[in-house]
Amino acid sequence: MSRFKDKMIVVTGGASGIGEATTRALVGEGARVVVADLQEERGAALCDELGDSVLFHRTDVMQESDIAAAVDLAVQSFGGLHGMVNNAGIVGAIGSITQTSAEAYDRTMAILCRGVFLGMKHAARVMVEQGSGAIVSLASSAGVMGGLGPHVYTMAKHGVVGLTKSAAAELAGQGVRVNAVAPGGTVTPMTSALGDGNLDAVSEMIAADNPLGRACMPEDIASGILFLLSDDAAQITGHTLVIDAGITTGGQPAAFHSQEAATLLHAGQRTDG
Ligand SMILES: NC(=O)c1ccc[n+]([C@@H]2O[C@H](COP(=O)([O-])OP(=O)(O)OC[C@H]3O[C@@H](n4cnc5c(N)ncnc54)[C@H](O)[C@@H]3O)[C@@H](O)[C@H]2O)c1
Repeated sequence: MSRFKDKMIVVTGGASGIGEATTRALVGEGARVVVADLQEERGAALCDELGDSVLFHRTDVMQESDIAAAVDLAVQSFGGLHGMVNNAGIVGAIGSITQTSAEAYDRTMAILCRGVFLGMKHAARVMVEQGSGAIVSLASSAGVMGGLGPHVYTMAKHGVVGLTKSAAAELAGQGVRVNAVAPGGTVTPMTSALGDGNLDAVSEMIAADNPLGRACMPEDIASGILFLLSDDAAQITGHTLVIDAGITTGGQPAAFHSQEAATLLHAGQRTDG
């Protein structure tokens, strides 16, 4: 497939995990990518490996001038901006709400919400002028349900879902689609701490909790991101695509599905009107 032949895309946090898998998949389908990330060494290694299709721009998504420059680099170098992937993220503030400091809250929100807001703003600046473009931001299963992440992370990811709908409504008439992807637990450097750096252990831990029985891999999430960026999703905007191996189904409480339970439940139902 070459859905992205000569398309120009910026991927924030594109040097690691889901962002790196997205960068690789986009280049594999013909795109040119500006990787906008803090990690200079990993960015340089990716450029060496993938060649002229990738440029690295050292970017802190909390800084408006950095995001603006990454977008401008794509336009100047490649001649336009077809896609923006607001992916950079951290887990951020962890712990009980009573123990969470305002400073940790501010930093978490600055990366996960301000960063996405700035990415949308500067992508829209170029895309509205062009009359076309697609923006995809990373939410999380923790952005559509409580109890799946730390408090501030959960709040921030719900914010990404909200801004996605709001910006989609404004930009729909100007040829720009705005969507989000909400991954469940995915095996990346972000989650590797859960298994003390052992990715197999992380994979097993995530798989144990999820209905499909396999942990999401970065490529699983990248394929959803590419779908929403592509013309295959031409009629989709304001949507959050959950890719979580079924975690947000709430699982299948055996009590409702066994034959024994069905018999008991039927027996308890009134049949006399
Ligand atoms: N891994 C998961 O289980 C999971 C689940 C749901 C959502 N997500 C979301 O997916 C996105 C990618 O996560 P990942 O798991 O690939 O993590 P990762 O740690 O592998 O990659 C995140 C990237 O973001 C970059 N980054 C962090 N802060 C930045 C900043 N201020 N400016 C620029 N770049 C910055 C990092 O350098 C890194 O390259 C995040 O938004 C995350 O919240 C991940």
